Amino acid sequence: METGLAGKRVLVTGASGGIGGACAREFVGEGSRVVIHYHEGRERAEALGRELGGAPIVGGDLRDEDAVDELFRRSVDELSGLDVCVAVAGKWPEEDVPLWELPLERWEATLRANLTITYLTARAFLREVERNGHGSLVMIGSTAGLFGEAGHADYATAKSAIVHGLLLSLKNEIVRVAPRGRVNVVCPGWTESPMTRTTLTDPELVRRVTRTMALRKVARPEDVARQVVVLASDELSGHVTGQVVTVAGGMEGRLLHHDPK
Ligand SMILES: NC(=O)c1ccc[n+]([C@@H]2O[C@H](COP(=O)([O-])OP(=O)(O)OC[C@H]3O[C@@H](n4cnc5c(N)ncnc54)[C@H](OP(=O)(O)O)[C@@H]3O)[C@@H](O)[C@H]2O)c1
Repeated sequence: METGLAGKRVLVTGASGGIGGACAREFVGEGSRVVIHYHEGRERAEALGRELGGAPIVGGDLRDEDAVDELFRRSVDELSGLDVCVAVAGKWPEEDVPLWELPLERWEATLRANLTITYLTARAFLREVERNGHGSLVMIGSTAGLFGEAGHADYATAKSAIVHGLLLSLKNEIVRVAPRGRVNVVCPGWTESPMTRTTLTDPELVRRVTRTMALRKVARPEDVARQVVVLASDELSGHVTGQVVTVAGGMEGRLLHHDPK
């Protein structure tokens, strides 16, 4: 089936990471022109740029609004406009901390590194949509935002806000400036990537996290990226907006208690 994405101009934030990198590869596979965004992983972004035939790379800390605006200015310069934006960049704080011990500093940092950077990215893209009259935005949520995540209430809260309030507002706002404009979310569950590499080396943890999934496996980044491509495509998803596609093997929740040894 044709995605109609050939020649489309796509910005992928967090493309130096596992899921973002897979998104960039899938879009290039469809013939799109892609800007690869990175933050600290310049070398990874450069390697991906070379792999993808010289795709442009642009760096920036997206917690900073000037950096976000600069990313969009340079992406529009590189591609002469943008048709699609995939807001992948985000950060899961590894340490498990219950709310009663969670410092305000970490709470604010996690909201900024997930919710605020997605808001700033969406804002900059919607300004481009306002200029062009068209555009498709795909944001990355998480099953943490659907089921909650004990020890990571900060991250779960940030992702819930993306998956609900932000998504449902933006799908109604975008059509004020682009009658066919669309906004959707993909929620990955546990996915192999640099973000989870350390955690997922524990086979007992993998057994536990896969026990509420019908399809008992940790996702590969490509599993997530292909759903992003489907939602981004006007050909395949032209009448789909405000939707959340969960890529988590049919996960139904979380195991809340460990069995005693
Ligand atoms: N892996 C999972 O199990 C999983 C599950 C649910 C949701 N997710 C979500 O999926 C998205 C991608 O995660 P991933 O697994 O691919 O992790 P990853 O490999 O660690 O990638 C994260 C990406 O975000 C970028 N980034 C982080 N902080 C940034 C900042 N302040 N400014 C700009 N860019 C920043 C990183 O850039 P640099 O590396 O260049 O610094 C990297 O490209 C995230 O939003 C994450 O929350 C992942």
